[in-house]
Amino acid sequence: MNLKELRLYHFKNHSNITLQFADKVNAIIGNNGVGKTNILDAVYYLANTKSYFNHLDNQLIQFGETECSIMGIYSDENQNTDIQIAFGENRKKTVKKNQKAFPRLLDYIGQVSAVFITPYDISLVFEGSEERRRFIDYTISQLDKTYLNQLIEYRKVIEQRNSFLKSLDGKDADPILMESFSFKLIPLSNSIFQKRTEFIEKFNPYFNESYRKLCGDLNQEILKIEYVSPLNSDSIEKILLNNHKIDCISGRTNNGIHKDDLNIEINGLPLKKFGSQGQIKSSVIALKLAQYQYLNQLSGKKPWLLLDDIFEKIDETRSQQLMKMVCGDEFGQIFVSDTHAQRVKDHFDSQGVEVNYYILE
Ligand SMILES: Nc1ncnc2c1ncn2[C@@H]1O[C@H](COP(=O)(O)OP(=O)(O)O)[C@@H](O)[C@H]1O
Ligand SMILES: [Mg+2]
Repeated sequence: MNLKELRLYHFKNHSNITLQFADKVNAIIGNNGVGKTNILDAVYYLANTKSYFNHLDNQLIQFGETECSIMGIYSDENQNTDIQIAFGENRKKTVKKNQKAFPRLLDYIGQVSAVFITPYDISLVFEGSEERRRFIDYTISQLDKTYLNQLIEYRKVIEQRNSFLKSLDGKDADPILMESFSFKLIPLSNSIFQKRTEFIEKFNPYFNESYRKLCGDLNQEILKIEYVSPLNSDSIEKILLNNHKIDCISGRTNNGIHKDDLNIEINGLPLKKFGSQGQIKSSVIALKLAQYQYLNQLSGKKPWLLLDDIFEKIDETRSQQLMKMVCGDEFGQIFVSDTHAQRVKDHFDSQGVEVNYYILE
């Protein structure tokens, strides 16, 4: 499914812009601050009904305006589909496909995926566990709606449980009341845990293969993601029971799958501590390329690949390897941003691939 056209209205710094895209490579060129990343984020938004960077939609509305819309036309086997997403300060988000609204946003998710490679991805290694959970949750959800529903349900129950615990003001909770939360949390936790476990197991070979392709076949480094969860060692029933007192005192749910994390290892050692800068950068890109391959293989659909400022950040050898990969048939439509058109041209010329340019001023 290719994006033919993108129209933005009051989206961040773009008050009104229409871009037409080619089926393979599209380059958004311009100086810093002109809104290149914002365009890539709008493409991501079109696929996911949310921004990659801002969790609050209101921050996406152009300063001084009250409404915003993102529209796209995609083509699939010569059939055009029109998608319109609109929201405002005082207006709920709506998603329309060929002018017909989706009753629930969830029904739209998974039609098309987007894989975003940005300099901020380094936060996957250095920031807290939330970033890493977001990565696995996004990947699994693209292929499994039940998982997405379970996650939403889990968050809701945790929120309710936490506000109940807070209302206790440190007093001990009635075990019967607590049971009603556990009754919902136990099956949800078990299912999410199982799906995350299975995902990591299947994902690791993709991760290694992408790393090897990016860094060259002679590379002997072994990359591994280890899934860290309290459920690895204890049942959720036991976790809830063991934490009952501390949960009541602190007014929140202290342990569970909402604390899950990933350890990224290189040759058996934590990447964060023992990886060189080059290894860390390559690992993060490999992680995203693996996400691409994984989604492509399991859904049979090629995600949109968004490459933000990538040539500025990686060395020549790696960018050549990356070009070899993404210009091949396994990859579909690509959107790159860069400050220099010539740099983009040189990279894609070497693979004999034509680029469609957009110069922002
Ligand atoms: N809600 C908003 N309304 C208007 N402008 C915004 C909004 N959010 C961000 N911007 C502007 O977008 C610009 C940055 O765009 P960005 O896409 O990151 O630029 P680039 O990637 O080309 O360097 C900044 O000038 C910033 O002020
Ligand atoms: Mg940028």
